[in-house]
Amino acid sequence: MNTTHRDTHGHVGHESAAGSAVALARLLELDGEVLAPYFSELTGRLAELADPSPARILDLGSGPGTGSFALARRFPAAHLTAVDISAQILHRLSTQASAHGVADRISTVEANVDESWAALSGDGPYDLIWAAAFMHHVADPARTFARAFEQLHPGGLIAVTEMDFFPRYLPEDTGVGRPGLEARLHAATNTQPPHEWTDHLRDAGFTLEERRPFDIRLDATQAGPSLNAYAQASLAKLRSHAAEVLDADDLAALDVLLDEEQPHSVARRDDLSVRTTRTTWIARRP
Ligand SMILES: C[S@@+](CC[C@H](N)C(=O)[O-])C[C@H]1O[C@@H](n2cnc3c(N)ncnc32)[C@H](O)[C@@H]1O
Repeated sequence: MNTTHRDTHGHVGHESAAGSAVALARLLELDGEVLAPYFSELTGRLAELADPSPARILDLGSGPGTGSFALARRFPAAHLTAVDISAQILHRLSTQASAHGVADRISTVEANVDESWAALSGDGPYDLIWAAAFMHHVADPARTFARAFEQLHPGGLIAVTEMDFFPRYLPEDTGVGRPGLEARLHAATNTQPPHEWTDHLRDAGFTLEERRPFDIRLDATQAGPSLNAYAQASLAKLRSHAAEVLDADDLAALDVLLDEEQPHSVARRDDLSVRTTRTTWIARRP
């Protein structure tokens, strides 16, 4: 079955639904592994702002649970409800929850957030709602923020994160093709301005606690052993959007870099790093 989907930047692409869900889940899991220091910093900030510590947490558009697991680690007494439209992705989350020993604290709900929230309200009201790389997927953000407001206890927090751009990994000169390939790849595939949710949150009745940019820079040692797989998965996703917008020589160079058999391949290089920025809005229901 083929489907139309939007990636984390809102670009539209066509892939097999099953292959696309598995590839996305793997990319997000690697994101959680490599960017663990960022998740720890963000959840630590939520712990400082939440009073009392959240007991019930809702993860909207949870994906395979990158945020759910970071929150479960930070708040060891909390119960989490992870909602996603994809049964396949939620299945991965449940499998990982068992492996991490937190299955008894995480429930999954397969639901389309654009439709009824009846299945979500069963576990609520919530003390914390987390929505990472998700709000730009919803059909009507104003309605979704209003529903999130209704689902929170007074004093409860919402944390909304967006990736400003896909992470970068490659050196300027990869030794394959023309220098500057990754910059051209990003320029060609990321044509939309960053998302901005401050006004939406205020319009829904929230008080903005902070709008925090995270500038993440990790060298290979800091990023750890999953860096190559993370870069490979991320660049492969961009490659799926690049065919019609990148020059033929750059496409050919990218294919060499993604070919694990090639000596310069992303899978084998020792000169990768991660550079990315994300923005998180933390707001409170008065
Ligand atoms: C880019 S992923 C982000 C996943 C996760 N929050 C993270 O940061 O790793 C977006 C997720 O939203 C889910 N999604 C998209 N539209 C949805 C909707 N209308 N209702 C529920 N989930 C949705 C997708 O299936 C996907 O797992």
